[in-house]
Amino acid sequence: MYRTHTCGELRIENIGNEVTLGGWVQRVRKLGGMTFIDLRDRYGITQLVIDDKASAELQAEVSKLGREFVLQVKGIVLERQSKNAKMPTGEVEIDLKEIAVLSPSEVPPFTIQEETDGGDELRMKYRYLDLRRDVVRENLVLRSKMAIAVRNYLDSLEFIETETPVLIKSTPEGARDFVVPSRMNPGEFYALPQSPQVFKQLLMIAGFDRYYQIVKCFRDEDLRADRQPEFTQIDCEMAFVEQDDILETFEGMAKHLFKLFKSVEFGDFPRIPYSEAMEKYGSDKPDIRFEMIFNDLTKQAKGKEFVVFNSAEYIAGICAKGAASYSRKQLDALTKYVQRPQVGAKGLVYVKCNEDGTFKSSIDKFYTQEDLKIWAESCGAKPGDLLLILSGVKEKTQVQLCELRLEMGRQLGLMKKDTFSPLWVVDFPLLEWDEESKRFHAMHHPFTAPKPEDIEMLETEPGKVRANAYDLVIHGVEIGGGSVRIFNSELQAKMFGLLGFTEEQAKAQFGFLMNAFKYGAPPHAGIALGFDRLVSMFAGLDSIRDVIAFPKNNSGRDVMIESPSAIANEQLNELSLKVEVKTKE
Ligand code: AMO
Repeated sequence: MYRTHTCGELRIENIGNEVTLGGWVQRVRKLGGMTFIDLRDRYGITQLVIDDKASAELQAEVSKLGREFVLQVKGIVLERQSKNAKMPTGEVEIDLKEIAVLSPSEVPPFTIQEETDGGDELRMKYRYLDLRRDVVRENLVLRSKMAIAVRNYLDSLEFIETETPVLIKSTPEGARDFVVPSRMNPGEFYALPQSPQVFKQLLMIAGFDRYYQIVKCFRDEDLRADRQPEFTQIDCEMAFVEQDDILETFEGMAKHLFKLFKSVEFGDFPRIPYSEAMEKYGSDKPDIRFEMIFNDLTKQAKGKEFVVFNSAEYIAGICAKGAASYSRKQLDALTKYVQRPQVGAKGLVYVKCNEDGTFKSSIDKFYTQEDLKIWAESCGAKPGDLLLILSGVKEKTQVQLCELRLEMGRQLGLMKKDTFSPLWVVDFPLLEWDEESKRFHAMHHPFTAPKPEDIEMLETEPGKVRANAYDLVIHGVEIGGGSVRIFNSELQAKMFGLLGFTEEQAKAQFGFLMNAFKYGAPPHAGIALGFDRLVSMFAGLDSIRDVIAFPKNNSGRDVMIESPSAIANEQLNELSLKVEVKTKE
């Protein structure tokens, strides 16, 4: 037996026991004639001690130890003279009797402690060492426990976990595909799934009724803190359901997870139509931990001498509570913030609502106190508050004001990590117009059903048609999205037509699905939740990288295994891929 106990297990009750432990050397300290070794495994740290009365052989062994050596040690549990209340094993130590070095270690490139001295790239290169750190491993333990809770929840509702293939044909989720050449079919390629979308729909046609899968998906898109090229979805589909059934089932799952892991209980999640989310927050994933909604001032603010407002399609303001005390410097910084190219506003108008009931604004020249009072009232501002106003083309201004709102939320400390405020955004537009290609794209994906009451606008005003599509949003992050599906081959064909597919193209790409619809497709709907995003939110982290055991960096590279990488010419030939030999100049 390698060990009788783990390094996190021994307590005062074990005093006098002879124990064998295995673990890594966290550190070795010499104090007078005594040597202390902290031995670590995933369960904790136990202190080992030897004094100068120990055999010369043992002393010699101990003198050779370094950080991260793997040891097997035998000894007797003693009560510590000076106890450490911060450690669960802090009342005991092991009087070391035998030691075996199972594996020596080179000096690690960074310290394996809560606060490490290793930079991001270095820790990624030596990810297996980074994973030895409690803080990193704990995120993965949470991930494992959450996956089990999800499985138990869905299993209790009779969902069937079904694996779907990874070598498939392109699935249209809006990103680029990763492709894999086929050796046996020269010149042909598989695509890795952006999601199992079509397979889960086929499983509904197959009568599975309730499907789920915790599944890897692959998207070749630009990376951000909440995006990885390969990520994990909790992918689900149900038959004989309506939108409400999906929202209730998965709201239930989210509540279950919140209760289990965060001890928070929620009432019903708010459901906000997309159009309202855009009007109030300028975003389809609003962060509703704080109010600060948009107030449309277009009517009130026009008609004076201020040309900027007079020429604007849309003027709107937010009310930052208690921020009238902002200094000139702070206001200048805010102006610079909205003028950054990433935000792109031309300028920022502010109105301070002074404690004495007067107003001070950046456009006092053009507006009277009475004008500003009307604006303040429309925005629900009280003395001590600050109005921040942007203007311009409506859609752009909404997006800019959304950025400003979030920045104010950050500055005023309103975005607390442990305050969760989940909501559903519903009634998304079915289609979105793409200026570049001059055609409509599916906002969610081409299998999403239009709202029955909007179907007749498909011919006349397709841009106005709303979909039975929904997103679960928490903290301003899209945690999940789904829709009610089209289950009629004619409507599906019409949809492909609207998206610019010719009949032949639709047939070539999705003929199998349209065919399947001919053999009795039940009404069905589904959703997929971003599992990495969910876990990172529960762990209070900003990046999903920290909840993925072996993530890619921002250039999509795994710097540890050095992938992607070139492959040998032979392999390229075998795959019938053209070999381009680069000659050195
Ligand atoms: P969607 O494309 O909205 O829907 O994806 C579902 C959820 O997956 C997460 N997600 C990601 N997480 C990390 N990295 C990425 N690159 C990434 N891309 C998406 C998000 C998102 O909400 N087939 C549909 C679902 C359906 O209609 O049932 C789909 O994939 O949290």
